[in-house]
Amino acid sequence: MLVQAGQGRSGAAHVVVMGNEKGGSGKSTAALHIAVALLKAGQRVATIDLDSRQQSFTHYINNRSAWARRTGLSLELPVHSCIKLGETMQIAENENSEFQQFAEAVSAVERTFDFIVIDTPGTDSYLMRLAHSMADTLVTPINDSFLDFDVLGTVDPATYAVTGISHYAEMVRDTRRKRRQLDGATTDWIVVRNRLSMLGSRNKQLVADGLKELSLQLGFRAIDGLAERVVYREFFPRGLTALDDIDEATLGTRPSLGHVTAREEVTSLLRQLKLPLDERGRRRAANRAEWFAQVDKPLELHDILA
Ligand SMILES: Nc1ncnc2c1ncn2[C@@H]1O[C@H](COP(=O)(O)OP(=O)(O)OP(=O)(O)O)[C@@H](O)[C@H]1O
Ligand SMILES: [Mg+2]
Repeated sequence: MLVQAGQGRSGAAHVVVMGNEKGGSGKSTAALHIAVALLKAGQRVATIDLDSRQQSFTHYINNRSAWARRTGLSLELPVHSCIKLGETMQIAENENSEFQQFAEAVSAVERTFDFIVIDTPGTDSYLMRLAHSMADTLVTPINDSFLDFDVLGTVDPATYAVTGISHYAEMVRDTRRKRRQLDGATTDWIVVRNRLSMLGSRNKQLVADGLKELSLQLGFRAIDGLAERVVYREFFPRGLTALDDIDEATLGTRPSLGHVTAREEVTSLLRQLKLPLDERGRRRAANRAEWFAQVDKPLELHDILA
């Protein structure tokens, strides 16, 4: 049952939640990148879309599956579920149906998978809060602007010094506190700057300073994530990520320098998230890569004699 999912996580999947009450901050894009990175590292990954209205994460995964079929490529896919919106006239009844679906989706995978990656909507909702309270790792992408910073904290208009904590940050602080009381576990909260301008600017520096100050007050880690790049927008219809092979057959278009740089920054982002990778899975992935690398090579004499 879901209520137990947050308790005593030993032997249970590590839950990664994408959250930010502000829409369009890059949650769904980052969700697929994290899920694919984990799959490529040999981890068993389940994904859940709580954004029942937009279902961007679900569409992204469906697009990936369709692109794999169309191209004949073996693109890694997670085991995915999407929570359907309750459609009765009663809010309580709808919440109950959504809760039941979520509980079932979690309990179906939590003992047999290494990771559950959950995408949440850019609006406050009951399920979104519940997911936050289950998070072992909470990833909050944030666009590099004070308008987006505003979901975390307020700043003085003259000095840009942090003057207060905003609604979403308070909600996270509250759910983390409850989680700690419930099972002694701490949620690693990481605020990831997204769509960073490649040029230095005063705004960029001020947002960085504000985040640093807030991170001390709220106990999150602030890291630089992805730059503003057109390749991230082009990936969606094909369900691709910056971690997939950079060749024309995979991309369906000619590779560019943007693909190479995007891959480097996503790899660096993943490293900084410090997700607990299962070593056996990592070895499985390394062996698989080795095996694939050997497939095209002719057998050596000692292989035949062995
Ligand atoms: N690093 C990036 N560079 C360029 N475009 C990006 C980047 N990250 C995300 N985008 C684009 O920004 C838009 C919002 O991204 P995404 O849908 O992932 O955000 P979201 O937080 O899930 O939004 P919502 O709250 O509506 O669910 C999309 O058009 C996406 O393609
Ligand atoms: Mg989204």
